[in-house]
Amino acid sequence: METVYLNGHYVPAEEAKISVFDRGFLFSDSVYEVIPFYQGVGFRLDEHLQRLEHSLRALRIELDFDWASMLSRLVALNGSGNLSVYLQVTRGSAGKRVHAIDPKLVPTIFACCQPIRDIYQEGIERVEGIKVIVTADLRWRRCDIKATCLLPNILVLQQAKEAGAQEALLLRDGTLTEGASCNFFIVERGVIYTPPIGTEILSGTTRALILELADQNGIPRQETDIDYQRLINADEVWISSSTRAIVPVLQVDDYVVGDGLKGPVWQRMFEIFTRYQHQLMTGE
Ligand code: PDD
Repeated sequence: METVYLNGHYVPAEEAKISVFDRGFLFSDSVYEVIPFYQGVGFRLDEHLQRLEHSLRALRIELDFDWASMLSRLVALNGSGNLSVYLQVTRGSAGKRVHAIDPKLVPTIFACCQPIRDIYQEGIERVEGIKVIVTADLRWRRCDIKATCLLPNILVLQQAKEAGAQEALLLRDGTLTEGASCNFFIVERGVIYTPPIGTEILSGTTRALILELADQNGIPRQETDIDYQRLINADEVWISSSTRAIVPVLQVDDYVVGDGLKGPVWQRMFEIFTRYQHQLMTGE
């Protein structure tokens, strides 16, 4: 049975209960992380925890907590396989519904696990390209905070599903920001491009790793604004996230990307990325 962590306790999922006055539930006054673990070892754990600290600081939630110990115990209790850990921190409950923040509240800390694919083991052939739609970015202006207010993200994902697509890329003021739950890249004549970090997008840990690996392997890359015309005319389009790694996009709205096949730069980056992941996890 699945074990979850809640406020100091490791308990079966159905025994974990929080107050109806929890501010995460009432106001989305909470932040989260999704962290992959392969064979019990956290992948880019420090980067995820740094981003969590950034999100908590932005909400002015002060906490002194040993995240790494809690997460490794939880992963061990769930079998130490290939898991993604969902970690959520809310401001806590005041026992009533009041908008104003009471700085004395005790934050609610919750974490649970879910199986994740190991794409290195599965191999490049098993990765399927996806279709995306492009739609308006209706989110707030602090998308650098990994907050749980995901209603716009959920609605555009549904819009994508209804159009036979698997993701939505978001357009704000003529520029593409990111996906509903991922960052994105384009390739033009062998150069990788992705939008720059700022308050309009989440600083993806996978995005950062792809840029790092591009630099180490001499693949030219640049952070720049990308508009719709550039997107549909690109040779390749990819999305990236902790749970999906790097996925090629083969169709954007009604436009086929490049020749409609998984591109050569994606293939090279996928191999570099999954080899890095495998080495880090196994030391081989
Ligand atoms: N989402 N942008 C958004 C809006 C995201 O929700 C995510 C991740 C990313 C990629 O970040 P990273 O590479 O650190 O996973 C970018 C997670 C997986 C989720 O919400 O489930």
